[in-house]
Amino acid sequence: MTAKTILITGGAGFIGSALIRYLIAETACHVINIDKLTYAGNLESLTTVANSERYHFEREDIGDAAAMTRLIDEYQPDAIMHLAAESHVDRSITGPAAFIETNVKGTFTLLEAARQYWEALDKERQAAFRFHHISTDEVYGDLEPGRLFTEDTAYAPSSPYSASKAASDHLVRAWHRTYGFPVLITNCSNNYGPNHFPEKLIPLMILNALAGKALPIYGDGQQIRDWLYVEDHVRALYCVLTTGQIGETYNIGGHNEKTNLDVVTTLCEILEQLAPNKPAGVTNYSDLITYVADRPGHDLRYAIDASKIQRELGWQPQETFNSGLLKTVKWFINNSTWVENVSSGAYQQWIDQHYEAPAR
Ligand code: NAD
Ligand code: DAU
Repeated sequence: MTAKTILITGGAGFIGSALIRYLIAETACHVINIDKLTYAGNLESLTTVANSERYHFEREDIGDAAAMTRLIDEYQPDAIMHLAAESHVDRSITGPAAFIETNVKGTFTLLEAARQYWEALDKERQAAFRFHHISTDEVYGDLEPGRLFTEDTAYAPSSPYSASKAASDHLVRAWHRTYGFPVLITNCSNNYGPNHFPEKLIPLMILNALAGKALPIYGDGQQIRDWLYVEDHVRALYCVLTTGQIGETYNIGGHNEKTNLDVVTTLCEILEQLAPNKPAGVTNYSDLITYVADRPGHDLRYAIDASKIQRELGWQPQETFNSGLLKTVKWFINNSTWVENVSSGAYQQWIDQHYEAPAR
């Protein structure tokens, strides 16, 4: 299918902003970005597209049924790519309510508004319409050594975050089976890259190291994640949207299984090369590594089998872990204004001066 107008939820977040930059630069699509602008939403990640006549921004909460119906009716999208979510596992442990509100109830509200719109479309537009739900490999839970997550792996989420994403995946599948609603689901491994909010492992470690602060490793640091450069993820998303089979799930991953300790050690080595003038008192960046209490319920290993999307849709990642990590460290070093505005909270003050808070 060729989507002319794509409505994206969560487009001011880490992956959503990379997706919008890609769509505006590489396709002729019109993009509608619906984002509540929580702490994770940052319009400074979208400055390169903000003046495009093919880009429109609406500050709304996906849990607001009237707002979703109004915006979908107004913009008449050919596709919806749903990324809006609370995304941080640690926050879900200390405050799960927002995760249920947005990831479960918000997804339900959006699905219902989208289904009612889709049911009223003419036959041709109905056949072309897609609802693409962007999800995570964390729904599959902890993985034993030697195995990979496939699209048939049973769901076994461990954290409030992953349980809320699993619930949203089930809702999306049910809307397909029950109503024939044309959905696509993707489950992706850990992303990293530019504009990543510095609560997550890789940006936190880069910024802490550059500031001479401790690099906190949970537990023994032997937990394994499968890393994918964010621009490879957004290419996969567009590939699934335009060529995926309705009702199908596609796993997306980079075949980059690394322990957390390996990731942090590699980051320290890259920083030794790119930022040799260290903060006062720091001899080696790796001296900043500090072991701290483990995350409750911490999953020990994730690893994706991405052979279905490669075999059926021809997608494969372009970046290796080393090339992607190098680009990422360079981006954080070269984008000090973005970093400073996130660190100081100035990005949120600007939003509050320019946009009304959503009603919900
Ligand atoms: P993020 O936290 O960086 O961004 C989330 C965005 O959603 C923010 O802009 C936020 O303002 C917005 N948002 C939150 N609640 C909202 C609401 N109620 N209404 C409207 N907007 C709301 O997240 P991310 O890392 O970019 O992840 C995007 C999606 O991809 C999520 O659904 C996540 O589960 C999934 N995912 C992320 C990863 C990863 O490694 N980051 C991997 C696989 C899947
Ligand atoms: O697997 C996909 C998921 O990846 C996404 O669905 C989530 O939205 C995304 O946040 C990410 O979840 P993780 O929990 O894996 O990411 P995080 O960066 O928070 O942590 C990565 C690993 O590093 C994890 O094992 C916990 C560990 N960690 C994290 C932080 C923030 C530390 O050891 N120290 C830290 O300070």
